[in-house]
Amino acid sequence: MCGIVGYVGARDCSDVLVSALTKLEYRGYDSAGIAVFDEDNNIKTVKTKGKLKDLVEKLEREGKPDGHVGIGHTRWATHGEPSDVNSHPHSGARVTIVHNGIIENYIELKEFLISKGRTFLSDTDTEVVAQLLDYKYNGNPLETIDDVMAELRGSFALGIMFKDFPDRIYAVRRESPLIVGVADGECFIASDVTAILQYTRKYYLLDHDEIATLSGDGVQFVDEHLDPIEKELKTADWDMEAAEKGGYPHFMIKEINEQPDAVKTTIIPRIKDGLPCFEECGITLEKIKDFKNITIVACGSAMHAGMVGKYVIEDLARVPVNVDIASEFRYRNPIVGEGDLVIIISQSGETADSLAALRLAKKKGAATLAIVNAKGSSIAREADMLIYTLAGPEIAVASTKAYITQLAVVYLFAFELALAKEKVSAAECKRLVSALMRMPEAIKYVIDNCEEKCKYISTKLLTADSLLYIGRRLDYALSMEGSLKLKEVSYIHSESYAAGELKHGTISLIEDCMPVIAVATQTDIIPKTISNIVEVKSRGAKVILVCTDACARELKEGVADYVIELPHTEELLMPITAVVPLQLLAYYTSVNRGNDPDKPRNLAKSVTVE
Ligand code: AGP
Ligand code: GLU
Repeated sequence: MCGIVGYVGARDCSDVLVSALTKLEYRGYDSAGIAVFDEDNNIKTVKTKGKLKDLVEKLEREGKPDGHVGIGHTRWATHGEPSDVNSHPHSGARVTIVHNGIIENYIELKEFLISKGRTFLSDTDTEVVAQLLDYKYNGNPLETIDDVMAELRGSFALGIMFKDFPDRIYAVRRESPLIVGVADGECFIASDVTAILQYTRKYYLLDHDEIATLSGDGVQFVDEHLDPIEKELKTADWDMEAAEKGGYPHFMIKEINEQPDAVKTTIIPRIKDGLPCFEECGITLEKIKDFKNITIVACGSAMHAGMVGKYVIEDLARVPVNVDIASEFRYRNPIVGEGDLVIIISQSGETADSLAALRLAKKKGAATLAIVNAKGSSIAREADMLIYTLAGPEIAVASTKAYITQLAVVYLFAFELALAKEKVSAAECKRLVSALMRMPEAIKYVIDNCEEKCKYISTKLLTADSLLYIGRRLDYALSMEGSLKLKEVSYIHSESYAAGELKHGTISLIEDCMPVIAVATQTDIIPKTISNIVEVKSRGAKVILVCTDACARELKEGVADYVIELPHTEELLMPITAVVPLQLLAYYTSVNRGNDPDKPRNLAKSVTVE
């Protein structure tokens, strides 16, 4: 996601900030900016939509602020489109800040500040914090920050400058990452160590709600009661690449671990008063209530997210949904037209087949909605309606956090459509939304509790020639994704099958010790899936069952060889947690076979050819 940097020291601050930001580019961003105290102790801000090179050009045109104390930012927009005015830093009269994350209660705070006569320039949640700091400013920065922190909900990291204190910057965080680096006579803040490795390897990890003051005297820390604290100085012994991976051995496992945050970041801005709200994306109940048919078109994992979407939209909104592979859709004169909605799902927004499918759907007169992760990509630009998944950049070729955020958006959209079609009441919709809001925590629980087991089970898959994934309904849609993940990174052949379809042919493949991964999370059909498990088990299969804890409790001895239990959540939402062990199994099988899970052979991250 975005990058924060800050500097206090003898070097040219603008240069340090830009250079440190370049090391955070891998996190992805859509705009950049810096604020520096100039020679007259005024805060000079330069910011722009676009890349760091655009910022550098602007700094050359407008004159680089000449100073030694400042903050910088690369933004990955969550509130308000990428634009010059929405770029960070943001200011109140006496305060300038950079921010990473989301202020969940920014609307209430903004309304309060407007009632006090404050006006706003941008659409961001960040400017609300800047204005609130200014509103509450009492001449004591630490007290002011502490006071404001008590009012903020959400996850955030902030770099803060007070006009009255030109020799220092302040840093604080809750959930979002932020570190404080120190060297001889200078200090830094950064979203991760990568940004400052070129200057120092010594750093402190800022904990939740601690406030750091960085000045010529070094760094001081206080806790949330403003009591001074001592912190352990750490030394980074990573190289640059390892630092980018944040200490994880691979991007794939880093991104699996980022999923709770990615889902949270994606859904929070699209929920208002407990209901889905896509107004910022140009989607209203009025606009979607008359669609009679929906076609979801995508490739690979994005198509699998669409398969989940089909079950959920049909179940809740009672609108027929067709899911199509983009490379098929584009060449078969599909039946879509006026009054239909075509949804294109894509992480990169540049997949050639998906882009062609979008253009074809538009040509045929269908309304189009893109669910895309990469900001400003072709699919994002060309669709009539657009919902960004806010997963941040996905670097591993195998999709994990992008897929899970696609699911999150598809669910929220299904809730909205069901409401528009009057198939669910507002109360029921609120209940579903609040269940979705609990999913980030559930994903984290699954990672924390299943990782070791998945690691162990993966050792049983290493020598398999072929695997089957089976499930019914949503579990079938999910098993498609599990199977693809395994194929991509382990190079072991696998197929996903609707569990009830096995006996119509595929069951002939079962032989002694063939692994079968069964997913059973939907209570009403668990007995049916169990019958299919018994069928394969009695023919020699080794069964790995991914199921709810309730199902596991009732399982008869010996039905499965290994059981991965998932916590109870809203049943319709189970794919969001059930995908996690499937990702972990694929990851550890890949690693244990000596593969590079981040760059599987023959695959590209963005498939821009047919
Ligand atoms: C997912 O793990 C794959 N690498 C691949 O199937 C991918 O989902 C597909 O190529 C679609 O890409 P997109 O989401 O960028 O359009
Ligand atoms: N929510 C803030 C914005 O949209 C910060 C986004 C970020 O983390 O880059 O500007």
